[in-house]
Amino acid sequence: MKKLLMVVASAAFVMGTMALAPMAAQAAAWGKCKACHNFSDKKKVGPGLQTVMGRKAGVMPKMKYSKALATQAWTWDENNMRDWICDSKKAVKVLTGDPKAKTKMPPQKICDPAKQDEVIAKLKSL
Ligand code: HEC
Repeated sequence: MKKLLMVVASAAFVMGTMALAPMAAQAAAWGKCKACHNFSDKKKVGPGLQTVMGRKAGVMPKMKYSKALATQAWTWDENNMRDWICDSKKAVKVLTGDPKAKTKMPPQKICDPAKQDEVIAKLKSL
């Protein structure tokens, strides 16, 4: 019985590493967003990201935005989205023009243009 368990356990381990390897290779930059966002119109920790490109900031119903997003109106486009996913903490100050503005979204550190392209392509495809 003990031996059988060992075999099962090691088989599970091998299968586990096999399953993980391709996932790691394909891990897309936008995978990070899913911890807090749905790619639909339903809110999670953050607002639903479907239709976010070209949408005014802070307008999703039922979402409790920070004051900065709720009261300032800019429209999400490629440029400000790049700044946002690189460093939202800094971007919110630039977008609002208020050096004290704060957002509830932590910086995602996606600052590499190729990775940003991936995220933006995903957002546009929703
Ligand atoms: C740790 C949680 C978390 C992660 C991870 C996260 N976000 Fe957010 N996001 C939030 C929160 C919370 C808000 C609301 C911010 C506020 O009200 O200040 C938000 C707001 C936003 C907004 C503004 C939407 C609107 O309706 O104006 C965009 C765009 C956005 N996130 C994009 C992204 C993208 C793209 C990613 C992945 C690269 C991402 N977020 C990752 C928590 C997160």
